[in-house]
Amino acid sequence: MVRKAEPFRIKMVEPIRMISREERIQKLKEAGFNPFLLKSEDVYIDLLTDSGTGAMSDRQWSALMLGDEAYAGSKSFYKVQAAVKDIFAYNFVIPTHQGRGAEQVLFPHLAGRKGQYVLGNMHFDTTMAHIELNGMIPVNLVIDDAFETEKKHPFKGNFDLDKLESFIEEKGVENIAFIIITITCNSAGGQPVSMENIRGVRRIADTYGLKIDIDSARFAENAYFIQKREPGYANKSIPEIIREMYAMGDYLTMSAKKDAIVNMGGLIGIKEDEALYNAAAASCVPMEGFITYGGLSGRDMEALAVGLYEGLDAEYLESRIGQVEYLGEELRKHGIPIQWPVGGHAVFVDAGKFLPHIPSEQFPAQALCNELYLESGVRAVEIGSLLLGRDPQTGEQKKAGVEFMRLTIPRRVYTDRHMDVVVDALVNIWQRRDQIKGLEFTYEPKVLRHFLCRLRPVA
Ligand code: F0G
Repeated sequence: MVRKAEPFRIKMVEPIRMISREERIQKLKEAGFNPFLLKSEDVYIDLLTDSGTGAMSDRQWSALMLGDEAYAGSKSFYKVQAAVKDIFAYNFVIPTHQGRGAEQVLFPHLAGRKGQYVLGNMHFDTTMAHIELNGMIPVNLVIDDAFETEKKHPFKGNFDLDKLESFIEEKGVENIAFIIITITCNSAGGQPVSMENIRGVRRIADTYGLKIDIDSARFAENAYFIQKREPGYANKSIPEIIREMYAMGDYLTMSAKKDAIVNMGGLIGIKEDEALYNAAAASCVPMEGFITYGGLSGRDMEALAVGLYEGLDAEYLESRIGQVEYLGEELRKHGIPIQWPVGGHAVFVDAGKFLPHIPSEQFPAQALCNELYLESGVRAVEIGSLLLGRDPQTGEQKKAGVEFMRLTIPRRVYTDRHMDVVVDALVNIWQRRDQIKGLEFTYEPKVLRHFLCRLRPVA
């Protein structure tokens, strides 16, 4: 075996430190057993999210100096526009402050009547919120294998095409607003969607005259998986695969904080519908700002124009996803249950299997996040029943398909040695897992409760 190292060396460092176990116990108590409420200075290795947490390159940092801060017609905007046209072949580009800004501006123009459905493989939470804010109903139609964490499937983010078609037939096409393909499928474990599946969605969309928005946060990682896992793509380049994927969409909404490796930014891209562009541009002005900055400063756009290309680099992607795979394989070696094969941006630990004695309404994945913090100062995030919340009609706690704890790896930030610390911590916890207790609320906000809720271990 020939080992490869990261395709970069480190020019600037940011010190981190681990506070003592006694302090961690105290800090977690003060945070209401909710890692979102911890101060980042009390966290040793922060795996809360890969969003906006990446390290920019020397080229991005130097590009900041070129930022054109003109209110209108900024040179920096035209660089982003040129990059988007080149990479995705979409004609119209609107920058936004982040992904949810793009959803906020575009979705009202894709909504028809109230009560229409928006069909996705699995919508991300803010995407779901913007669908609902526009009076539409989000529906997830991912394949059942996405929830079989131990079952090998190369593309667990795929749509179940039969379900997609039957849903449209059953409800009537007049009740469908549009389709969203989320690549990679974050909520299922950063799982990719195959080219064949995207083609299948396009075929169905064409049959019924529906449009497709590609939720593009991790578009380059999805292309990498197609190159590595899908027959016929091994010899195609990442840019070629991306062009082929986006030829099958009509619009894109993007959080640029992930694969475009910036700390803040988002994008709307529209392939050819000029009327839609005009409508969205008009909404952008009051919501995000003038159409040549959309909530970003000129320097942010400069970094974005560079980052969009850096995210496509084959060696970078191999090293980045290689690190996620490394963490996943090390955990599996020790018998720790994870979503497998691992996805692009995170290892998703199956906390329901890790802590089978904790029922979903006591949030096993949140309990595991807390234990991980106590063990080693590592911050992970719950993607399970706590995040899912209650049925708005009945007030009943909903039960997640899988209780996931997400170990989300920022881009170009941590080394494999940091991953080893995470492995050691989880292996230690695995050995005493039966002693971990579930959680109950002491404060439960009505909406998006996982961010601000406070909890305590059940007696
Ligand atoms: N779509 C997907 C698939 C996402 O993962 C996110 C954000 C968004 C849209 C919204 O973008 O945060 O820039 O407004 N995901 C982050 C996460 C927050 O931690 O997974 P945003």
